Amino acid sequence: MSLLELRDLCVSYGRVAGTRRLNLTIQEADTVALIGANGAGKSSALKAITGLVRGYGGDVLWRGQSIKGAAASDIVKLGIGFSPEGRRVFPSLTVQENLRMGAFARGRDQQDERREQIFGYFPRLKERARQAAGSLSGGEQQMLAIGRALMSKPDLFLLDEPSLGLAPIVVERIGDILLEIQAREGLAFVLAEQNANWAMRVARRTTILELGEKVFDDASESLLEDPKVQTAFLGV
Ligand SMILES: Nc1ncnc2c1ncn2[C@@H]1O[C@H](COP(=O)(O)OP(=O)(O)OP(=O)(O)O)[C@@H](O)[C@H]1O
Ligand SMILES: [Mg+2]
Repeated sequence: MSLLELRDLCVSYGRVAGTRRLNLTIQEADTVALIGANGAGKSSALKAITGLVRGYGGDVLWRGQSIKGAAASDIVKLGIGFSPEGRRVFPSLTVQENLRMGAFARGRDQQDERREQIFGYFPRLKERARQAAGSLSGGEQQMLAIGRALMSKPDLFLLDEPSLGLAPIVVERIGDILLEIQAREGLAFVLAEQNANWAMRVARRTTILELGEKVFDDASESLLEDPKVQTAFLGV
């Protein structure tokens, strides 16, 4: 059974379509790049999965069961973590307080243990544990947003534009850390990205959206070599 399945997902905002009959399957421990230009429907798909958009057509199945209409807080408890576009950390809270906000579903002991694991992945956050999140650099805030979403120990981790506005070297570092976490914890992740070159090198599989529809879905390795994909999405 697959971990997550989108069946004919149609997200719409009045007359504007976010996704059009989108079908997508994610297996346990899959790593997926979700690529497409502005307005392609990447965020719409992630918001439907996470319950931030609820009145959609089609269905979203988690381990074979529909989660359509479920509340966002219940979806987190099922094992779906989400780091939204624009790394919204709580600027006046400290790094550790931000992490605690991501673990509302867990007991105190488990929280402390998990926080130490997260600090292991992101030593920079440990050094700044008592610093206000608003005083961190952009890259550090992105790491904190990722760490916060990981506090719930998700089986599927959805990241919306984690590379946005960050220096290339920081983006590379984030990719390396994600792969390290994936290898250790066996979670699946989806990178929704305009930075196709990066996301496709990190994730094994790639789905490309155009105007809310899936236009390519294959191993990243093959799509990186595909002249049509290179011209349209990789700027080659
Ligand atoms: N809250 C909203 N109200 C109205 N239309 C919306 C809303 N959110 C998204 N849309 C529209 O839905 C379509 C898909 O948008 P979406 O944000 O899912 O794309 P995206 O691939 O995430 O784009 P980007 O790369 O710019 O983040 C676009 O045409 C967008 O204008
Ligand atoms: Mg988006």
